[in-house]
Amino acid sequence: MSDPSIGQVTEFVAESLARHGRNPDYLLQHLIALQHRFSHVPATAVDLLATELGVTRTQIRAAIDFYAFLHETPRGDFDILFSDNITDRMLGNQRLMRLLCERLGVEPGVPRADGRVTVGPTSCTGMCDQGPALLVNGMAVTRLDAQRVDRIADLVEMGTPLEHWPGAYFVVEDNIRRKGLLLSNAATDAAGLRAMLEKGAEAALAEVERSGLRGRGGAGFTTALKWKFCREAPGGERFVVCNADEGEPGTFKDRVLLTSYADLMFEGMTICAGVIGARRGFLYLRGEYRYLVPHLEAVLARRRAQGLLGESILGHDGFDFDIAIHLGAGAYICGEESALIESLEGKRGVTRKRPPFPVTSGYQGNPTVVNNVETFLAAARVVQWGGYWFRGEGTDKSAGSKILSVSGDVARPGIYEYPFGTPVHRVLADCGATNPQAVQISGAAGATLAPAEFDRIIAFEDLPTAGSFMVFDASRDMLDMVRNFAHFFAHESCGSARS
Ligand SMILES: Cc1cc2nc3c(=O)[nH]c(=O)nc-3n(C[C@H](O)[C@H](O)[C@H](O)COP(=O)(O)O)c2cc1C
Repeated sequence: MSDPSIGQVTEFVAESLARHGRNPDYLLQHLIALQHRFSHVPATAVDLLATELGVTRTQIRAAIDFYAFLHETPRGDFDILFSDNITDRMLGNQRLMRLLCERLGVEPGVPRADGRVTVGPTSCTGMCDQGPALLVNGMAVTRLDAQRVDRIADLVEMGTPLEHWPGAYFVVEDNIRRKGLLLSNAATDAAGLRAMLEKGAEAALAEVERSGLRGRGGAGFTTALKWKFCREAPGGERFVVCNADEGEPGTFKDRVLLTSYADLMFEGMTICAGVIGARRGFLYLRGEYRYLVPHLEAVLARRRAQGLLGESILGHDGFDFDIAIHLGAGAYICGEESALIESLEGKRGVTRKRPPFPVTSGYQGNPTVVNNVETFLAAARVVQWGGYWFRGEGTDKSAGSKILSVSGDVARPGIYEYPFGTPVHRVLADCGATNPQAVQISGAAGATLAPAEFDRIIAFEDLPTAGSFMVFDASRDMLDMVRNFAHFFAHESCGSARS
């Protein structure tokens, strides 16, 4: 792409302002749109946004510097990023990246002199069940092999727009292998929301409390308590935030929930809004899943048309709530709730000191509930079918089910839902793991289990997990995993090593 003219940039910024408005909270969304359009954020755009949004150029440059998917210099017409989780490595991503670099005559991370292409690695893109994977201009390409890479090189050399690349390259499968309490029921009849409106917010909260539901994003905080604290917090406006950042290496279950259970997730958010008294909500979606935006926007539009979002929801005067989607731009730390809120406010995703916690001081300093995608899904079903229904599964300390993202050396990678309390060996048997020497649970920051520990159980009291379950057979050098995770943490340094 030749350098954009000042006129082109000005016109695009004007369009972006018309779309998102002049609220500085939308700075990151403007920058993502610019990066996408021009393969970088041109200096002219920085100047324009500084004036229009009333923020300093330094703030804007600091944001660009922080997010891995934003750049001040052009990346090339085709910006290709190979997912570099350990599971991608086990499937040969490094060999394939070398092959593509050779075919295109580029060094990893260095734009080609003609501005056509950049090739490099990126952190896990959440496609471990169908890797090796890459992102091209933010769109996920799955199931790479030498033939596919060879063809991609041709498409890049010919300058073929992505719309004309083979559709099969962009197919992302759900790979749901085992359905349990939540996944067996994808019905979108808004029954949970209706139940809350019939019985009242107090009763809905009581069901969530009775269920014993704990957050599915990692920390396992009691969901009812979080909602209660937020409901009772002093302050005016309240907010509901769904954490769909899913950056933990090896985790991809939220991707599937967003694809096939989005209605239930939005319903859970709406119920939460009814309970805490929120009028606005956000879905914070990791940049790697931007291909899901049109689908999610369509679900939101349909829900508005059905009276399930917007003003006077289901005819109830005073119950107004709507949801906006905000994209991330390649920063693992933005999954941490306080960093996520900073990012929602358009800033670098730097963690806040806590307390105060988001329930009292979150988005723009207002009381805010942040929950994981799976938590909202579970909450919607709990309000529909009752806390006892949910408690009927799991263990005393871990009620309900857990959805696992299973990948690595297994015959059937994908999504598995189990009651809490399920032993690791049961999961290994179901997914077709032969001769496993280790299982890595809960991602890079989780636990590595040896075979002697395979009778341990998935539960908060034994093996808490956000859902990642990576299997390594006896042929693997476990130091490769350690090196990959060390590299991940060095790269995703939680912002502390960045300016
Ligand atoms: C470094 C880091 C990354 C995190 N990433 C995620 C994430 O991708 N998704 C998520 O739901 N929670 C993530 N969390 C946990 C969130 O901070 C927060 O506890 C969670 O969103 C709360 O929702 P829950 O109560 O429904 O689990 C992360 C935490 C840390 C410390």
